[in-house]
Amino acid sequence: MKILGIESSCDETAAAVYTDDGLQSNIIASQAVHEQYGGVVPELASRAHHKTIWHTVQQALDEGNTPLAQIDAVAVTQGPGLMGSLLVGLCFSKGLCLSRNIQLVGVNHMDAHIYANFIDEQPEYPFVSLTVSGGHTQLVHVSAPFEHELLGQTRDDAAGEAFDKIGKILGLPYPAGPVIDERSQYGDPNFHDFPQAMLDNDFEFSFSGLKTSVKYFLEDQDDQEQFLEDYLDDICASVSHAITEVLVKKLRNAIEHTGVETIALAGGVSANSMLRRKANELASETGCKLHIPKLAYCTDNAAMIAITGYMMAQRNMFSDMKMKPFANLKALERMNV
Ligand code: KG4
Ligand code: ZN
Repeated sequence: MKILGIESSCDETAAAVYTDDGLQSNIIASQAVHEQYGGVVPELASRAHHKTIWHTVQQALDEGNTPLAQIDAVAVTQGPGLMGSLLVGLCFSKGLCLSRNIQLVGVNHMDAHIYANFIDEQPEYPFVSLTVSGGHTQLVHVSAPFEHELLGQTRDDAAGEAFDKIGKILGLPYPAGPVIDERSQYGDPNFHDFPQAMLDNDFEFSFSGLKTSVKYFLEDQDDQEQFLEDYLDDICASVSHAITEVLVKKLRNAIEHTGVETIALAGGVSANSMLRRKANELASETGCKLHIPKLAYCTDNAAMIAITGYMMAQRNMFSDMKMKPFANLKALERMNV
């Protein structure tokens, strides 16, 4: 079986080919147009997807040595994401399927982050995934393929969103997660004790208070600019410490609650070096086997869509041409009622 995967939920236009022999290609066209705005501008994102998608798909087919005529199904991100961006990927994929008379698979982007762990490794079920992206922070118990139980999620900002918003306060470019990660390596994580919220709750998260706390901490300084110049690395390290401590503590709760022997990290924030290190320590302490996708499969990519589509196609989980995109998980719930 040969699957073409297409991802267009946010600001990356991506395509990949996954076959019985594994991943054949993985192409990403990132959109530089948003940099000057300090965040993703939805209308510009859809226009950029529209411009780039055909070329990106062609490149994935070429590099994967798989002509379109050999593709059995197109797997495309159905949601969650920006509605205009999702529509570009969905309409393009439906057109391709109709013209070639091939099957369509609608992929949940959050599931795909989890199954990115299967590109290079074979995690054993059941496992718990800590899925941490720009839009979501979730603890998911995966008992079998596509059998997911949501243990808990964030009540406000996602972990990636916290990194990005705090980065903005610190004057760092968007997305700030990777920059804070980099600077943290030169700083002291105990420089300042930022709040770790909701430790009394087993599986739910809250990160919006941390952002406010960083803002007040800076406002308390006499010369903010000088303070940032002197201590930016230490502030970054302390922020990373606060976020990753909470994530790993809740992951520990989930291991204890479910009794799993396998854990996985997923999503853009799983690229974070402090989180990867602490998750490794947790795994050795608890005797769990830890899976973390390689860096290229942590942040948004089409390889994860293609492999998830492949796994869904194996289980006959195809979609029809009426498939609609969903912007958020609440909308998905409504669609499934
Ligand atoms: O999964 P992803 O690519 O997109 C969404 O589905 O949201 O995640 C993007 C998020 C951004 O918030 C970005 O700042 C964060 O992942 N991120 C990181 C790192 N690399 C990406 N956060 C912390 N440390 C990193 N190394
Ligand atoms: Zn994502």
